[in-house]
Parts: sequence; structure tokens; C-alpha cells
Amino acid sequence: MDKFTIQKMMEFTLGDSVLEISYIIASVLFIMGLKMLSHPDSARRGNLLAAFGMGLAIVATMAFHTKDGEPIGNHLLILVAIAIGTVVGWLIAVKVKMTAMPQLVSLFNGMGGAAAALISLMEFPHIEASLVERTGLVNGHVLAILLGLLIGSVSFAGSMVAFLKLDSRLGDVKAPWIRYVNLVLLVGLLLSVAGIMIFGQNPEAASGFVYLMFAVALIYGVLFVMPIGGADMPVVISLLNSFTGVAAAMGGFLYNNQAMLTGGILVGSAGTILTILMCNAMNRSLVNVIVGAFGGQAAGGSDVGGSIKEISLSDSAVLLSYSQKVVIVPGYGLAVAQAQHLCHDLDKILEDKGVEVRYAIHPVAGRMPGHMNVLLAEADVSYDKLIEMDDINPDLPNTDVLIVIGANDVVNPAAEDDPSSPIYGMPIIKARDAKNVIVMKRGMGKGYAAIENNLFFADRTRMLFGDAKETLQKLLAEIKSL
Ligand code: TAP
Repeated sequence: MDKFTIQKMMEFTLGDSVLEISYIIASVLFIMGLKMLSHPDSARRGNLLAAFGMGLAIVATMAFHTKDGEPIGNHLLILVAIAIGTVVGWLIAVKVKMTAMPQLVSLFNGMGGAAAALISLMEFPHIEASLVERTGLVNGHVLAILLGLLIGSVSFAGSMVAFLKLDSRLGDVKAPWIRYVNLVLLVGLLLSVAGIMIFGQNPEAASGFVYLMFAVALIYGVLFVMPIGGADMPVVISLLNSFTGVAAAMGGFLYNNQAMLTGGILVGSAGTILTILMCNAMNRSLVNVIVGAFGGQAAGGSDVGGSIKEISLSDSAVLLSYSQKVVIVPGYGLAVAQAQHLCHDLDKILEDKGVEVRYAIHPVAGRMPGHMNVLLAEADVSYDKLIEMDDINPDLPNTDVLIVIGANDVVNPAAEDDPSSPIYGMPIIKARDAKNVIVMKRGMGKGYAAIENNLFFADRTRMLFGDAKETLQKLLAEIKSL
């Protein structure tokens, strides 16, 4: 054991030990919380547990963290900042509509990226002089700062663009030049990291260049997400989530803070796993998503054949009541109409009549990962009735009636039939295989990918137009009156 290590160990105070233990407890709480998020029954408790872990880490840092033997000051400022953040975040979260949840997730994710980038901007000029004397700027500390800056800025700017797109305030910009500019910016940013580390004299001299990198990374973040759209947004959102996690983990390296490191790594790895799952669900490679070559052209759509056939409420009630097997395909429109409770009522009333009712869940139905699972869990639909797309598809030819409630893209056969369609190659719920299809939607509005849907014109399909909530209310009344 060298002199330096022994000296460090002797400097270790009781407060340091309490701080380290608090970080370990916080890390364990994050992991347990994340595990509990994987099931709707325990998700709320998991969220609270992880939030408690974060609270513990903050309180322990304020109480026991020291720099050069001095405790951190500014407690009042920190508390005021926490109070403002808590009130604003709480108000937004309470007021947000369930359908606007993806926008909120993007916004909050962007804040995480911004925080990581700001930490890097603040810390770069304050790199320890003794470290710079020993290694110049070629060390892990500088690398963590610069990568935190880049990844955090891209995540912040990208999440803001994703927020605007999900909120329909910004459309897709598909100009082919964007991908070349992006490539140049990305290579430029990576070379800048290497350049600063190898040729930079000291943090002060290089800090102007670091600010320039920050600006370029923001532009890259905007241009990175700008051309990606349509059915690809779920992949981008989870990718940006993982970016924020990695950027936060860089902060953990920087401060040698286990709680920040664990939190960042958990978000980064969970986001990466989700990105891979989303890519698989969309049958796409990540490169393909980023380069933006989904299917063929931009939202064009295939030729539609056949004509629209409507079905009355009473005919729907009879058809459903005398079926043996019914499958419900929920989609974004169900969330918009907030008709999940009525949907559950429909499934209960049919089951009372001896009909087997299951739900077909597409991985990107709605506007956020697991959207339909959360929505239906809110209405107490039993989890084992929710069947994943791949498991239910083979059974659809034996299904008497398939009811599409506010879904569109996830049942669009163009994904299988039309190579020129923007969603070509995306796996779908093969609704057209069912013996009868009833589609509940307000009119002939398109889905997120903004393309026509041949399913609505198919021989076996009949449309039940209207807001999903009102239609379900009336349908329930009809079924009860039979
Ligand atoms: P969409 O394709 O977006 O279709 C939703 C349909 O619901 C619309 O065609 C609309 O038709 C109908 N609708 C809207 N409000 C309604 C109401 N009050 N009552 C009844 N119907 C209503 O939904 P989907 O099939 O769930 O597909 C999801 C799409 O979003 C995919 O393209 C996916 O890639 C994309 N996306 C998903 C995510 C995640 S992570 N899930 C994130 C971003 C984007 P009318 O206007 O005619 O009623």
C-alpha cells in the first residue's frame, strides 16, 4: 500500500462512510425500483422506492459531502432549486393528460441531458491543476467531462425536437442533405474530443473550444431527430433515454459518486435494451432508423381497394354476443377517448355470456412503450388477458370477431404488402386474418404514420364510426338489452 493510499484512508471520516453507505443504499433502491417497474401491480411502489433512493442520495450529499475537507455550502440555494423543481415537476405531472405522457417523458429526459451537459460545462474549467500537471488533458476525468457534454447536449436537443414532434408542433424534415451534415458534425465532434485531449494545453485555454463543441452538439441533436418520424419515433425516444443515462453516468465517474453512476448505468442500459426491443418490434436495425430509410418514400401509402362498409350498433352487439372468441386490439385512439374502463366493461359483459375475450398488444401501439399495458392496467384488466402480438397472431384465423379500438398503424396490412409504404417491414397484428373485423374510430382519420389503411376497405371489415367512449357506451347498452 503506497503512502498516498494510506494518507487517503486516514482522511476518511465518519461522514464519508455514512455518505458511501447512503449511496450504496440508494443504488440498491434504484435497482429494486427498476425491477418493480416491470409489472403494473408493483410499478407505482417501484417508482416511489427509486424516488426515495434519490432523495436519500441528495440529503446525504448535502449533509456529508466535502471538498478539500470543507462541507458544501449553498444549502439554501440548493433547497430553493429543489423546491422550484419539485413544484414545477409535480404540477406538470399532475396536470398532464395520459395521452400527452410521451411528450412529458421526452421533456423530462431532455432535462436530464441538459443537467449532464451543464455539469460538464461547469467542471471543465475546474479540473484539478495537479492532475493537469501530471497528465495534461489526456486522462479519464477529461474524457468523462467531454463525453458527458456531448451525449448530454445531443440528448437534450434531440428530446426537445422529439417533444415538439410528439406534440404535433413539428413535422418530419426529410431533406437528404441532413444525413450528410449529421455525419460531418458527428465526426467533427468526436475528433474535437480527441483534439482537446491530445493538443489542449490546459482547461482555461481550451474552454472556448468546449463551448463551441456544446453549440455544435446541440445542432447535431436537433438534426439527428429532425428527419426521424412516423413509426420510428418509439425507437428514437428510447435511444435518447439511454443517452441521458450514459451522460449521467459520466457525471458519476467524474464525482466518483456511486449513486449517480448506478442511476446513470441503469437508465443507460434499460434504454439500450428498450431500443433493441423496439428495433426488433419494428423489424429494423438501429442504423436503418438513424439513417432514416424506413420502407420506401415518405408518408405516401398504398393504393386502397374496395369500399367502406359500416355496421350498426345492434348488429355489432349480436355478432359479439354470439361469438366464441373475441380479440380486442387497443390503440392510441382508446387512450385519447379514455375508454379503457368501458373497454373492460365490454370484455366482462361478453365473458359473462361465455365469450372468450383477449387483448392483442402491439409493442408500439399508442405513443409510448407499454402504453396499452399501462392503460388497461388502469382499468384493472387482468394482465394474463393481454397477449403479445407474436403469440396472438397465429390464433387470429380462429377468432370470430376482432375489434379494433382506436388502432390504425399497428393493424395496417401495408406493412406486409406494400414495399413502398413507410411502414413496410414493421410487424403488425394480423387483424385481417380474423373471421370478422369491427373497427371503432371517429372517421377515416389516419394514424401516426399518416398513411391509408387497406384493412378498413377489406371484405371482412365493418366500420363502427364514433368516439370510442361514446360508441362503447352505446354498444354496452345494446348488448345488455339483448
Ligand atoms: P395510430 O396509428 O396513431 O391510430 C390511432 C387512430 O385512433 C387514428 O387513426 C384515429 O382515427 C383513432 N382515434 C383517435 N381518437 C379517437 C377517439 N377518440 N375515438 C376513436 N378513435 C380515435 O395508433 P396505433 O395503431 O396505436 O399506432 C401507434 C403509432 O404511433 C405507430 O405508428 C407507432 O410507431 C407510433 N408511435 C408509437 C410510440 C410508442 S413507443 N408506442 C411512440 C411514438 C409514435 P380517427 O381520427 O378517424 O378517429
